[in-house]
Order: sequence, then structure tokens, then C-alpha cells
Amino acid sequence: MHQTEKKRAAAEAALEYIEPGCLLGVGTGSTVNYFIDALPQVRDKIDALVASSEATRERLEGLGFDVTELSETGDLDLYVDGADEANKHFHLIKGGGGALTREKIVAGASRKFVCIIDDSKMVGTLGAFPLPIEVIPMGRSFVSRKVIKYRGQPVMREGFVTDNGNEIIDVYNLKITNPVEMEERINQIPGVVTVGLFAHRGADVLIIADDKEVKTIKK
Ligand code: 5RP
Repeated sequence: MHQTEKKRAAAEAALEYIEPGCLLGVGTGSTVNYFIDALPQVRDKIDALVASSEATRERLEGLGFDVTELSETGDLDLYVDGADEANKHFHLIKGGGGALTREKIVAGASRKFVCIIDDSKMVGTLGAFPLPIEVIPMGRSFVSRKVIKYRGQPVMREGFVTDNGNEIIDVYNLKITNPVEMEERINQIPGVVTVGLFAHRGADVLIIADDKEVKTIKK
């Protein structure tokens, strides 16, 4: 299967997790876009939808869905999102699309997180994909100097502003042997809004499409 077909296959496999009355959180990215495009098939089962980015909100509204604020729904039944990398412990790197903060909030508020990926995203050690960090603009240099300690190379994402009005630093060449600890440490740096490590609240289910099939791994 071509990569785009894998993304579509993983996304469509996530539909079966939507049960009647579902309060559903929707992630961001090209894989999730296939999921969004398939959602009209299960429209009757969805009671409320929460979007993890403005791009996702627009796509959902374009299909005629009402999008609700998380503060109105309370906790959600299900969150479906992609990832940039995943390991066998269900830890993730996310934020390639820059939506990491809202994604982490919606993931945290959801009882189940189903992550949809193609097999190129499964890795032994996280960090080959540059780790995104959302920062308050004033803190960009300070945070960059701090993350150099972890032997990564921080690079500002030029010309990019998050939905929250902040900036993204992408940290290259990290070898993340302890994702839980690194998530905690980077979150402690003043100026950091969110680090794109999803280890404390990783996925509960990984749906992985490879050349032959779609596999599901549950925690
Ligand atoms: C956006 C994300 C995405 O889930 C991640 O970048 C994967 O995107 P894609 O499905 O396009 O490969 O975290 O902030």
C-alpha cells in the first residue's frame, strides 16, 4: 500500500471505536483528515465533537458537523489522532502539525485515545522525528538554550504561529530513552507551553497500517 492508502486504512479502522452517544475528540493532520472525511458514515452515533485545532474545526464544519467547546462537553469518550512517532509502550511524538497543546488537552480529557498511524511511524527509540515544543515567544531563546542540554539541536519553526498565538521550536537529533522523564523535565522549563511528547498520557490503542494489513495493538 502507498503511504496515503495506509493512512486512510488506519483512519477508517478507527470508526469502529465510535459507539452510540459518543462524545468524540478529533485530532489534527493528514491521517486524521481521512478519519474526518469518513465521519458522515457514523453521524448518528456522535453526540458531540471537539476539535484539536482550527484546521480540524473548519474541516468538520465543512461536512456539516457542529463543533463544541471542551468546556461545554466535559470529559470525552474517545479521542482519535495521528502521531509523528510511536513506540511499543504507546508513547508518542506529536506536533508535526503544530497542534500539540490542544491535542494534549483533548487527549487528557478523553477516556480512550486511539492513535492512527502508518508503519513508518513505529520506532524503537523516539527522537528521529524532531521533537516540537510550543513556547511563549518571549521564552524562545531561553528554552532553546535549556534543551541543548539534552544534546538536541533546537530550530525555530520559521513563519509558524500556533492556534494559541505561540511559536514552535523543533528539537533535532534527540535520543529519547526515557520519554516520561523527558516530558516532565521539558515541561518544567519556564516559557514552555507544551512539549510534543505524549508519554504520561500516551495512546491506549495503536492502529497501524502496513503494506498488507491494519493491525491493532491495545494497552
Ligand atoms: C499534529 C500532529 C499530527 O498527529 C502528526 O503531525 C501526524 O500528522 P500526519 O497524520 O499528517 O502524519 O501531531 O500536530
